[in-house]
Amino acid sequence: MVVTLMPGDGPRLRAIRLRALADAPDAFATTLAEARAWSDARWEEQVATLPTFVWHEHGADLGMVRGAPRDGDPEAGYLISLWVAPEARGRGVGAALVHAVVAWARAEGLRRLFLDVGARNDAAQALYARLGFAVSGVTGTLPAPRERVCEVEMVLELGKA
Ligand SMILES: CC(C)(COP(=O)(O)OP(=O)(O)OC[C@H]1O[C@@H](n2cnc3c(N)ncnc32)[C@H](O)[C@@H]1OP(=O)(O)O)[C@@H](O)C(=O)NCCC(=O)NCCS
Repeated sequence: MVVTLMPGDGPRLRAIRLRALADAPDAFATTLAEARAWSDARWEEQVATLPTFVWHEHGADLGMVRGAPRDGDPEAGYLISLWVAPEARGRGVGAALVHAVVAWARAEGLRRLFLDVGARNDAAQALYARLGFAVSGVTGTLPAPRERVCEVEMVLELGKA
């Protein structure tokens, strides 16, 4: 089931996020080395400022996703940090986590939800497209030294989905 992390859940966020960064480094701008160095207070601050949803099953956290504001655009938000543990993939956990962020965005009154996904990340792109996200035409890369990883922006119009 999807659960929302609460104040005090910084260690829980740290554990699953470090697992995600180790498993799928090219899917995220933050590196495992960077995140490992963060203080406990920084993880707590992230829990406090970003809505964070975790897939919890049989006593284990097996997936996560977060919502975030889009700088300079009060009507839009971002979906970030989506990851599902390899042993839990292919049975709808990713879709359930995306739905949690979409519900958050709607509750916030946002009109659009953006995300960046690897240009070669077929599994994630297929998932997002199935859930109504469309390629916006904006492209970019991960920060140096991983500029080789190209990303495409996708957007969900919340009025239509
Ligand atoms: C992308 C990810 C979150 C999907 O999680 P999941 O729990 O497997 O997602 P779901 O089970 O809800 O759906 C997966 C869909 O992708 C499809 N899929 C899986 N591998 C695929 C591939 N290589 N190419 C195309 N589609 C693929 C499945 O068929 C499924 O679609 P279906 O339900 O229509 O059959 C997971 O693979 C993951 O964590 N990857 C590593 C991190 C990552 O890439 N995060 C995204 C960052 S933008």
